[in-house]
Amino acid sequence: MNGFVVCGTDTDAGKTWFCIEWLKANADGYVYWKPVETGESDTAKVRAAVPGATVFDPLLQLGEAIAPTLAAKRAGVAMPNIADVLAAIPVCEKPIVLETFGSPLSPFGPSVLQAELLVALGWPIVLVTLSTVGAIGRTLQACAGLREYGLQPAAIVLMGERDEYAEQEIAKFSGCDVISKAEALAKQWHRLAGASASDNSIERDRAAIWHPYTPLVGADDPLEIVGALAEFLELADGRRIIDGISSWWTIQHGHRHPPLMNALRQAMTKFDHVMFAGITHEPAVEAAELLLESSPMPAGKVFYSDNGSTAVEVALKMAYQVWCHRGEPQRTLFVGFENGYHGDTFGAMAAGRDPLFFAKFDPLLFRTLRVPVSATALADVLDQHPNQVAAVILEPLVQGAGGMRMHSPQELRAIFDVCHERGVYFIADEVMTGGGRTGTFWAHERAGIAPDFLCAGKTLTGGIMPLAATLIAPHVVEHFQTADRTKTFFHGHSFTAYPLACAVAAKNLKNMRTGEWKRNVERIETFWLRSLGHLPGVRILGSIVAIDVEAEGGYLAEVGAAMRRSALEEGVLLRPLGNVLYAMPPYCTSDLSLERIASAIRSTIR
Ligand SMILES: Cc1ncc(COP(=O)(O)O)c(C=O)c1O
Repeated sequence: MNGFVVCGTDTDAGKTWFCIEWLKANADGYVYWKPVETGESDTAKVRAAVPGATVFDPLLQLGEAIAPTLAAKRAGVAMPNIADVLAAIPVCEKPIVLETFGSPLSPFGPSVLQAELLVALGWPIVLVTLSTVGAIGRTLQACAGLREYGLQPAAIVLMGERDEYAEQEIAKFSGCDVISKAEALAKQWHRLAGASASDNSIERDRAAIWHPYTPLVGADDPLEIVGALAEFLELADGRRIIDGISSWWTIQHGHRHPPLMNALRQAMTKFDHVMFAGITHEPAVEAAELLLESSPMPAGKVFYSDNGSTAVEVALKMAYQVWCHRGEPQRTLFVGFENGYHGDTFGAMAAGRDPLFFAKFDPLLFRTLRVPVSATALADVLDQHPNQVAAVILEPLVQGAGGMRMHSPQELRAIFDVCHERGVYFIADEVMTGGGRTGTFWAHERAGIAPDFLCAGKTLTGGIMPLAATLIAPHVVEHFQTADRTKTFFHGHSFTAYPLACAVAAKNLKNMRTGEWKRNVERIETFWLRSLGHLPGVRILGSIVAIDVEAEGGYLAEVGAAMRRSALEEGVLLRPLGNVLYAMPPYCTSDLSLERIASAIRSTIR
């Protein structure tokens, strides 16, 4: 826990009074910081009242007792922005009691309210209010204001005379813990600080949870995350580490990317979930139009699902069904590539057929053929199985989970040509490579090809919400253009086209038109080339850098876990694929953080 934030329903709600009482009772356990203050200094008041406490200097102190934005303007100084405050958070062992000014809806800059700072911090919020007449309305208004930003106080403290009626009503209507000052000071410290009560969460996790790709015995303890922002993850033990692999390749621009979080908050005022059969909504339509516009099949169609594996399942099922409609139901074979990975559901396993992950399931998987990533090898296999193959599936340019193995645009183009010359559909699985990871919006763009199916997932919503989509070219769609019910594509998931995720995806796709992401990916690629490009066997494309480490044991190589631990010691989260060490950070990652990742890679492979 980094600390908690003390907000008031208004100026003079009793925030500083509360902080003083808190520090008096907990001076050893907490430190105090008020980043921005005007008028009589609260920092000085706290120092005087609790001499034993550590009290940090404010970032900005202005003498005039007026709104900070106005005071800063009159004093001719710049108000810090939210990033400045985040960067200035004092580094200390103890959790911080961070006092805000005014109310959460007080202006923090020309176009942001202080609530944005609370969102960016992600710390538990203690809302302080006076128990004088009007307390219920005042407090509920503040809660409603916070809710607009997706925030909910961890606790509300009523200062002043105890008012049990107000406590009860505020609790009922706000859904928050409401604590009188006396009660708070007597016995509620942990409850008040919200996230601090997580001492035994690792044991509770071990008892209740089965994690993905993790053995039940012998694995390192999971890292407990209490917050995420930009390229950083906040750990419960106070460390702040760099998410060097974008949380399994999902986080695109950065954690809690403000425009996307705002889009989500806005969407939440209108939608929750609605089914998608026989129903539509603007977010889904808009995101589909933008997706098609970004693709080589603008007149095609989008079929939504909710993760990469299901996007692949949809493509495989449709590819087979279209052959049925075309009178060739004997085309039951799919061709995948060595080191390919397409997800963990049955169709995706069959197409990926990783011997380590999926060999056990072999007897249950439908038949597929596997070839090296080579147009010649593919041509041979297709020629040996004339009229039997429905589709070929490939991760364009980078085979991710198979070890970040890269092939050239020329090879990709040749593979695509082999498919089309033989009339076999080509499925581009861009679940990992899509959204700009490799430097172009879709990896296949570099080969100048137009796939028949295109699978997208992970970064569609900037990684903020789960959503996936399969794009289908018009010449495939045409075979389903019939009222014949036997030719319907009978497939759908409960959360198909989840409206909140679609709203975020639409915002993301719209914002990506500016090309800002491209400049960042180019910056990252240039950085990798400069800092790691000289290492033997290094592979770099867009935001991705990968390097094989000499070790026995492939994916299960012990060296993988050792490299992960070593990088963590340097404050970087990496998750090697066996003996393949790689990084794929969010696009916002600063040069300073890139340097930390590069340094962790260098010392890890040493
Ligand atoms: C290329 C590719 N396809 C499909 C998937 C499966 O996606 P999900 O994990 O969202 O099911 C992945 C996941 O890593 C992937 O890299």
